[in-house]
Amino acid sequence: MKIIRAKDYNDMSRKAANIISAQVILKPNSVLGLATGSSPIGIYQQLIKWYEKGDIDFSEVTTVNLDEYYGLSPEDEQSYHNFMYTNFFDHVNIPRDRINLPNGMETDEAKECARYDALLNSLGGVDMQLLGIGRNGHIGFNEPSDCYSKGTHCVELAESTIEANKRFFASADDVPRRAYSMGIHTIMAAKKVIVVASGEDKAWAIKESCFGPVTPHVPGSILQLHNDAIVIADEAALSLIDNI
Ligand code: F6R
Repeated sequence: MKIIRAKDYNDMSRKAANIISAQVILKPNSVLGLATGSSPIGIYQQLIKWYEKGDIDFSEVTTVNLDEYYGLSPEDEQSYHNFMYTNFFDHVNIPRDRINLPNGMETDEAKECARYDALLNSLGGVDMQLLGIGRNGHIGFNEPSDCYSKGTHCVELAESTIEANKRFFASADDVPRRAYSMGIHTIMAAKKVIVVASGEDKAWAIKESCFGPVTPHVPGSILQLHNDAIVIADEAALSLIDNI
């Protein structure tokens, strides 16, 4: 696991965007695993700027998102579909038929999980997976648990996740209680993983994920076993770690 120290959120975003940009230049038909939330917004903004300048071309890229809230339609303002189109897809040239997210409206969970896993398999896996990390160490919506999930599954969101994500909703009661998420096995199978973290509220999760025991109780800690995982964190997120 390589840890890169960034000065602040903007520096973290530029560093991560540089790595993603290099990936797309080196392999134009990359399968990019993407995340939502506050952490990647600056990365998407930077990539959009480079796209507008003509420095990066996404025309051969395929994307697979980590997760989607159960019960939210793509049109719902709080859905991750809507987030991704508003913050990224509407501004770059990724072909629409190569954009993939779990379908939050599918009530047949087994069917939707099988569909998403079959899709991931048919793409030959993920070349580069971008991850944020939850305050409790979750990656995707793989919440702390006694065991690791393998493929796509429908999760019960942890109370701390509902608490953290209520800022995007009118109230905590409006946060969906469940979500579809890629599994830990799928994330670990990505050829390269980039984790971005900014702010003091991520310091515990970053310290435990980088240096704590590898345990499903801190899902991010499994990344210590990945061959090519890069953590890009700002000073506040690294504040519980000495000498980085
Ligand atoms: C989002 C996702 C989550 C977030 C995490 C951090 O697609 O899978 O794991 O990355 O909850 O969220 P932010 O970046 O909002 O702090």
